[in-house]
Amino acid sequence: MSTLKTSIGNFQFDTCVMNASGVHCYDQSELDGLRASSAGTFVTKSATLQPREGNPTPRYKPVPLGSINSMGLPNLGIDFYLDYLKSVEVGKSSPFLSVTGLSREETHTLLNKVQSSDYDGLVELNLSCPNIVGKPQLGYDIEGVKKLLTEVFAYFDQPLGVKLPPYFDLTHFDQMAEVLNQFPLTFVNTVNSIGNALYIEDETVAIKPKNGFGGLGGTYIKPTALANVHAFYQRLKPSIAIIGTGGVTSGRDVFEHILCGASLVQIGTALQEEGPAIFDRLQAELLEIMTEKGYKSLDDFRGKLQYL
Ligand code: SIN
Repeated sequence: MSTLKTSIGNFQFDTCVMNASGVHCYDQSELDGLRASSAGTFVTKSATLQPREGNPTPRYKPVPLGSINSMGLPNLGIDFYLDYLKSVEVGKSSPFLSVTGLSREETHTLLNKVQSSDYDGLVELNLSCPNIVGKPQLGYDIEGVKKLLTEVFAYFDQPLGVKLPPYFDLTHFDQMAEVLNQFPLTFVNTVNSIGNALYIEDETVAIKPKNGFGGLGGTYIKPTALANVHAFYQRLKPSIAIIGTGGVTSGRDVFEHILCGASLVQIGTALQEEGPAIFDRLQAELLEIMTEKGYKSLDDFRGKLQYL
């Protein structure tokens, strides 16, 4: 019998699929739904210091090959998510607490708050939300990321990872990996949505914020996501695990993310559309592929993408 067990840093997970931050993780009922599902773990909606309502609606739209969103970081604030994680029995699989500051100062305030709380599990610092007017994604400012991580690791000693935007140039993979390798990061999560896409129906944009510009997710972005997973797998030091996110709708997609080097795989658009039962289907499909190929564990094929 094959196993889907995996690990990130010192944390073990019974299976390799989970939600992507922003999907099914806003409030108690959505988070409880993830905990009751067969996902290996879960991540909370990226928290800011204060609760946020987010951008005007409609701000998410499923489209034929994926989705476009400009949610604008609606969340219940860091205190809610810290309280939630304190109140639930999370067992041996750590959840991921996602945080994102709207400024450098807010990021430090958030991480200091996490560090002085009872929560000592995994933390994801989101550097890649494309949907806040006037706030560029820090992930595209490579020197800015270096400065921020230098400041953060001067005091933060919990297991920390970063959620990155997609990169599109080999030079940017090189430069970003060179920066990330300088820090004791536990993981890198790649990719967030492809920012500032435009979807048009008849003569009109599909979502209201930013006159229709929003983050693209789903099947559209799988090749970009796989490229980012593999590019960072090739470049990052082995102690930094990779979480693959983007374009997963089937067990075959999960397989490809792992083949490219992912240790955990997150589901966004497809989870939004199908609900938490998707985790059962993805695992069954992945196990079928592994059985056909004679793979007993994820280590048998993780990162072993073949070249021509
Ligand atoms: C949003 O809330 O706008 C999406 C969050 C993200 O893409 O990081």
